[in-house]
Amino acid sequence: MKYRFINQTIIVLLSLQILVSACHKKVTMPDPGTITKTTFGYMPDSTEVFLYTLTNRSGISMKVTNYGGIITSLLVPDSKGNHADVVLGYDSLSGYLAKTPYFGALIGRYGNRIAKGKFKLDGKQYTLALNDGPNHLHGGVKGFDKVLWEAAEFNTDSAVGLKLHYQSRDGEEGYPGNLDVIVTYTLNDSNRLAIEYNATTDKATPVNLTQHSYFNLAGSGDIKSHELMISASKYNVVENTLIPTGELREVKGTPFDFNIAKPIGRDLQAAGGKPVGYDHNFILDTKGIHDLAARVVEPSSGRIMEVYTDQPAVQFYTGNFLDGTIRGKSGKVYEQYDGFCLETQHFPDSPNQAAFPTTILKPGEQYHTKTIFKFSAR
Ligand code: BGC
Repeated sequence: MKYRFINQTIIVLLSLQILVSACHKKVTMPDPGTITKTTFGYMPDSTEVFLYTLTNRSGISMKVTNYGGIITSLLVPDSKGNHADVVLGYDSLSGYLAKTPYFGALIGRYGNRIAKGKFKLDGKQYTLALNDGPNHLHGGVKGFDKVLWEAAEFNTDSAVGLKLHYQSRDGEEGYPGNLDVIVTYTLNDSNRLAIEYNATTDKATPVNLTQHSYFNLAGSGDIKSHELMISASKYNVVENTLIPTGELREVKGTPFDFNIAKPIGRDLQAAGGKPVGYDHNFILDTKGIHDLAARVVEPSSGRIMEVYTDQPAVQFYTGNFLDGTIRGKSGKVYEQYDGFCLETQHFPDSPNQAAFPTTILKPGEQYHTKTIFKFSAR
């Protein structure tokens, strides 16, 4: 009898313990990442445009609109947990519709320049829209940055994301073939923002997709004291309209050597150009998505951004064309060098330069590339 009582007590106690630990688990389990969807505004033809807010479980919150796949805001904590919005842009859709130097946008069908907007493919001459002096830039007059994408949000155990789909029709901006494009943003709980680009075509066409966020890891001011490392021993030499001459020059002993991290401002004047600054295509020494392609440290906040990519190059641009005429978020005036871009991509003008890695996608092939921006603080 006594033993039975003891046994029963033990069973009750054990059950209680299991119950308590289950409750405890439930309580300590972090909230899943969240996604909210609101109206961002309306296109001139009244189509509704959406804004998605993706928040992970590690303190990053990012806003993306299905207009141009634009990242409009990216709140990143420093080591003390203070958040700053580390991307340039506008508060409202009307800002983006009125005038934008590609703030935060997805770029396609061909990121960067194609000389004179012309190229030959399979014996046929193609003529693209000219929107950058004599050249074609970032997909033309109405590139992927200015179209509406179909969006679908998703949530996994360790990430929040948005899948964007766009069908670029045959002949759009002069390009051959219907191109079906899917870009996926995945923000995981390790503060990695992965951008995956997928595309298929029904005719051979050049494809070079990228993301055009202007970063400022301090959240304001200029980016000259940000310390940058780029793992690149060569860069593409360009002529005065920024078309590659075909020469791949060693960075050693030039203002373009970022192999050992240095403040962006240190050799900015020496980089030359009109307007002065970096606007150059660096050829990466890295061999794939697991290798560190670039790293930026903002010394005052301690925020760090690392770039991983499977692409052969990165366009490093210091916002040279920002000239104080744009009033962006919270009325902030954007001056020259207030943001920098690290646009992972192929070489500019590849469709006209046989020696460059090919950017031609053929029917039956799958275009797939990936870039990761990883955020941390020290
Ligand atoms: C280009 C710059 C251009 C800028 C547009 C960059 O990707 O390299 O030359 O002015 O985009 O905002």
